[in-house]
Amino acid sequence: LRYDPPEVVGRKYFELYPEEKDPLWTNPCLDKRHKEIYSEDKTCDRLPNFVVVGPQKTGTTALYWFLNMHPDVESNRPSDKTFEEVQFFSGTNYYKGIDWYMDYFPVPSIDTILFEKSATYFDQEVVPRRVAALLPKSHVVVILIDPAKRAYSWYQHMRSHDDPTALKYSFYQVVNAKRQGSPPALISLQRRCLDPGFYAYHLERWTDGRRSDQIVIVDGEMLKEKPAVVMQHVQKALGFKNIIDYSKKLKFDQKKGFFCQVTEQKRLKCLGKSKGRLYPDMDDKSQMFLTKYYQVANTKLLQMLKSMNKPVPKWLEEQQGS
Ligand code: A3P
Repeated sequence: LRYDPPEVVGRKYFELYPEEKDPLWTNPCLDKRHKEIYSEDKTCDRLPNFVVVGPQKTGTTALYWFLNMHPDVESNRPSDKTFEEVQFFSGTNYYKGIDWYMDYFPVPSIDTILFEKSATYFDQEVVPRRVAALLPKSHVVVILIDPAKRAYSWYQHMRSHDDPTALKYSFYQVVNAKRQGSPPALISLQRRCLDPGFYAYHLERWTDGRRSDQIVIVDGEMLKEKPAVVMQHVQKALGFKNIIDYSKKLKFDQKKGFFCQVTEQKRLKCLGKSKGRLYPDMDDKSQMFLTKYYQVANTKLLQMLKSMNKPVPKWLEEQQGS
């Protein structure tokens, strides 16, 4: 082996260690040996201090927007393809490397807190490990709403994007479809409605190798009802030095039915039509089905949050009767 050219050695190495074919990026500045050989023109400062990881449809855009109202907080520049989300740690962007990722962030000043939000991160198996490797000191923010409501919101999201399967089948037909024998498109939609809602299962991966205080749990129902209270909690949990009062920045808009931003001209600016959509309430049959479907997972979530000393979302406390 010693006499083989590097290319052959490389090939043989990956035959012996196939699991190492997949890169795992680490922060070059946190390892003395890496830092010594890292280009002088490069920096490690353009990396987020915290990441909002989702799941989708829990209010991630609203939280992202509220956080950006803070004078010390800055997020990534938008992506051409995925808008405010960089989606680096999930999917193929990861293989573009850390220079590609860092290019999305501004060079921070001394008090700047950088963050990104990609709602696709929460339930993808590889992501917690990748985030921990590159951003070992970062906080991870997870928003939780009743998983049944999350599933319904996702279904409505797909309908409004003219997804043929969501238009063809009722919500009850989607959640109730048998995984064996149903059309693949129906099963795929069902998975995307239901699977992210097994919060405890996904959260367990995020707790691996992280201190409990690095995980910030946000009650997504409270984020809708009392965003200023939630933002107080989020700022404290993220260790912000400058804690601002969001009750002056956000006011409830009757027409929208959600809290919106008070602009300098004292007008209200709300999120667009795709956030806070109008649709009928969930039917009772689906509600009953999903309450049962998520019962065990929600009980586990409650136990997990208690053991991590985390505040339990009000919706979960009420559901579990604790
Ligand atoms: P619905 O449109 O189903 O009501 P995400 O940004 O993660 O996709 O989440 C979208 C959800 O954010 C919306 O789902 C809505 O309920 C919720 N939300 C929370 N606060 C909001 C706000 N201030 N304005 C609009 N939507 C908000």
